[in-house]
Amino acid sequence: MESHSEQEKEKQFNERIDRGDIIEPKDWMPERYRKQLIRIMGQHAHSEIVGMLPEGNWITRAPSLRRKAVLLAKVQDEAGHGLYIYSGTETLGVSRDQMNQELLSGKAKYSSIFNYPTLSWADMGAIGWLVDGAAIVNQTALAKCSYGPYARAMIRICKEENFHHKQGYEILATLMTGTPEQKAMAQDAVDRFWWPSLMMFGPSDKDSPNTAELMRWKVKKYTNDDLRQRFIDRTVPQAENIGLKLPDDKLKWNPDTMHYEHGEINWDEFYNVIKGNGICNHQRLKARNDAHDKGAWVREAANAYAGKHAEKTMAA
Ligand code: 3HC
Repeated sequence: MESHSEQEKEKQFNERIDRGDIIEPKDWMPERYRKQLIRIMGQHAHSEIVGMLPEGNWITRAPSLRRKAVLLAKVQDEAGHGLYIYSGTETLGVSRDQMNQELLSGKAKYSSIFNYPTLSWADMGAIGWLVDGAAIVNQTALAKCSYGPYARAMIRICKEENFHHKQGYEILATLMTGTPEQKAMAQDAVDRFWWPSLMMFGPSDKDSPNTAELMRWKVKKYTNDDLRQRFIDRTVPQAENIGLKLPDDKLKWNPDTMHYEHGEINWDEFYNVIKGNGICNHQRLKARNDAHDKGAWVREAANAYAGKHAEKTMAA
């Protein structure tokens, strides 16, 4: 049973949220607010780190030095996004180690989109255009969320995501002016990544156990369906501009609602992938565990140096 003062604090917290205050790490916050932020921010950081794997797969096979340099820069950016968001999550009292262990053990979620394979170079275009495009829609909203460290992280990350989005779209636009085989490769990549990109926004609002609470606390400024619709509305014309056909026959502009109508998402596939049965779930987790194991010597050396350095400072 919450004490009177707890209830009073929660009432004052809700008043702060209602008037648009930004909550900072040292501010009082309901335990539930803190836990929700650790969950959503931790999963976001994991997604950035695991998201490097599908693209990393093509760095050594990029078709030109320019494409390799751009893809390398993008993957490095994603690593930075992950570390940046982990740091923001640590302000809530959870350790980097704990978050890392939750990822490595398979306990923590990361975005389902990264459990799909990258089968051709065109997938680099589809990921940049669709996956980073979806991330921008989501992260632009999160840049106005009520938790200061998360909102500020999003502002910097969105700037880099825009570069990711443009380079992906440029890869596809270039392929769509190429040979029939190159056009087919681009179309195939979009056929495989369109629907999983829509799933990045989460289940439909009626099936989302977290959205109402996150909206109440202005962590989410829009619902899953609203953000998904915003992404569809801006992406369909981009596809048409370069001659790509999105794999949804029900896509149709509705002049009354000023939105695109679209087909039903395969929610069985969505829940199956987040349950761990996607094509690449095991491969991604193994790659992360292998990287962690191979990096043990770096952590040991850094800790040894830090220990020595601390001794010297103490002795001085
Ligand atoms: N993949 C994996 N799990 C998902 C998911 C997805 N695409 N969508 C929803 N889920 C999970 C949720 O985590 C939740 O599970 P949990 O309660 O056990 O954590 C459950 O499904 C129900 O979903 P809800 O809609 O109730 O959950 P949320 O309110 O958290 O909304 C979200 C889901 C919209 C993904 C939200 O968590 C969010 O905005 N997260 C921050 C942004 C983010 O993580 N984006 C991932 C992509 S990052 C990226 O793309 C990197 C870029 O550089 C390419």
